[in-house]
Amino acid sequence: MKPLRLGVNVDHVATVRNARGGLHPDPLIGALAAVQGGADGITIHLREDRRHIRDEDVRRFLSALSVPLNLEMAATEEMVAIAVAARPHAVCLVPEKRTEVTTEGGLDVAGQQEALRPAVARLSAVGIRVSMFVDPDPAQLRASAAIGAAVVELHTGAYAGGREGELARLRAAAALTASLRLECHAGHGLTYDNVGPVAALPEVVELNIGHFLIGEAIIEGLAPVVAKMKRLMQAARA
Ligand code: PXP
Repeated sequence: MKPLRLGVNVDHVATVRNARGGLHPDPLIGALAAVQGGADGITIHLREDRRHIRDEDVRRFLSALSVPLNLEMAATEEMVAIAVAARPHAVCLVPEKRTEVTTEGGLDVAGQQEALRPAVARLSAVGIRVSMFVDPDPAQLRASAAIGAAVVELHTGAYAGGREGELARLRAAAALTASLRLECHAGHGLTYDNVGPVAALPEVVELNIGHFLIGEAIIEGLAPVVAKMKRLMQAARA
């Protein structure tokens, strides 16, 4: 069985930072903690509205990280230019709507092949591994291979939402990536409770997980952080 990597998405550390407009908590410090915990890579999504990760974060992450950076982005002219200049290890192309709370569905590669092909070519030409975030649909996988993507990331959102038959679709899609010579990643909505069956798919070599991990870190981390504040308060009174 091939090794399975974990890419940790730290966007929501930046969401909390941006809620107060300052520098704390720093998503880069969060990323370094994730690496300490065993993350094999870090993922950040530079959205067109910059609602969490900002342009300067991309530069800071690239100069400080010891593990590969996967930059999620829309396939727009602006984003492709940023990625070509910044040269992250990987780019994952995602659909993006300004009004969505999170990436809602996979990219329609099959319906936009001619628009996406030049973006894949420009990113690949400077050595970036290009991944397409797609629903587990054979037509999307074939189109991704046809336009030269090296990787597909299977959208696990419908599976995570409990939709019947989704694990079978993911299994079939993962199997198809092997014959298309696509590296297979997966992610969206994964938690402690639902990660097992996806992690067991033999073709999948990377999972990208964000929201659950950051949420869980807040819950798990609150007790020691509150205890430290109490110690500081009590020390000031001593
Ligand atoms: N992969 C992609 C392409 C995504 O857009 C996201 C969400 O930013 C994830 C993985 C991670 O999803 P979640 O935050 O639900 O774990």
